[in-house]
Amino acid sequence: MPEQTVRWAGGLDGHIQIIDQTLLPAEFKVLALQTAEQVWEAIKVLRVRGAPAIGVAAGMGVVLGIRSAPDDEDEVLERVAKTADYLATSRPTAVNLFWALERMKRVADEHRGEGGAAIKQTLLAEAKDIRDDDARMCRTIGQAGQHLITEGCGVLTHCNAGGLATAEYGTALAPMYRAHELGRHFRVYADETRPLLQGARLTMWELGQAGIDCTLICDNTAAVVMRQGKVDLVIVGADRIAAGGDVANKIGTYGVAVLAKHHGVPFYVAAPSSTFDLSLDSGDAIPIEERGSEEVTHGFGRQTAPDGCKVYSPAFDVTPASLVAGIITERGLIEKPTRERIAEVLG
Ligand code: MRU
Repeated sequence: MPEQTVRWAGGLDGHIQIIDQTLLPAEFKVLALQTAEQVWEAIKVLRVRGAPAIGVAAGMGVVLGIRSAPDDEDEVLERVAKTADYLATSRPTAVNLFWALERMKRVADEHRGEGGAAIKQTLLAEAKDIRDDDARMCRTIGQAGQHLITEGCGVLTHCNAGGLATAEYGTALAPMYRAHELGRHFRVYADETRPLLQGARLTMWELGQAGIDCTLICDNTAAVVMRQGKVDLVIVGADRIAAGGDVANKIGTYGVAVLAKHHGVPFYVAAPSSTFDLSLDSGDAIPIEERGSEEVTHGFGRQTAPDGCKVYSPAFDVTPASLVAGIITERGLIEKPTRERIAEVLG
């Protein structure tokens, strides 16, 4: 990756730098975000996207929201809560967003009594730690899942759960990066991922940069490549995983899991512990974002459906745990996930 997906530049008076993912692959541009409002917008329109990367940006966004507050402690703490509540309205599904905001609020609270100026510095350090922790978790996920990518195998992925979607290295793509580093040869099939084409624009871009053999397929080609025996396993990322192992991820993931089941192809999910929401019993309780109709009818500026037509565009779907062969986490591989196995590994 030529630049970190999300990073803090400078001291407390610095800014967030993100790769603007709406422009890829045609243009590589690093954007400076100076306000919490700019962070909200960047998350909303998917300049920064992917569950872990959203969490990192939101944590840093809290710092942007509080730094101009007077150094009075109560005012700083009030601003932390207000900024966190505001950023929480940007997107509803990826739990990493709420996880990071809660972590920032908790740390602010733990440092009560140290004064507003000190709390600001502490929160800046915490936001950077969220980024660094995510980078470490992704590397560990890569190591925990690399054995699944065997010499000569074919692996299919959906959406983008790579370095662009995380602090670096990715979740679903991490085992592939690790296997590549270990000198293994394999083929990746990337679903293009309608309607916003994260697979075509982002996964193909970053796997290409890494020199990994990667073939773009239309979403509706997944069944055929499985039937042709070209796919030995599927690995996808996740936006939220319920206590029993149901997995919310990019719309179309559930369909891929059903296809994989039919063709006897193991379906894996890769995600850090920050993507689990143990407060939810089942995937039915996961809030699913619905996106605007224009992303379907006028994708990338070209009209592809009649004016005024009705559109239903959920951004995510839920794959039941029964279709999941395993969840690769930084704490190890949870095979055939159940409530008990997940609780055991996550503690
Ligand atoms: O709408 P997006 O692009 O944010 O959706 C991203 C995904 O669905 C990813 O698969 C998921 O967030 C995991 S990223 C490591």
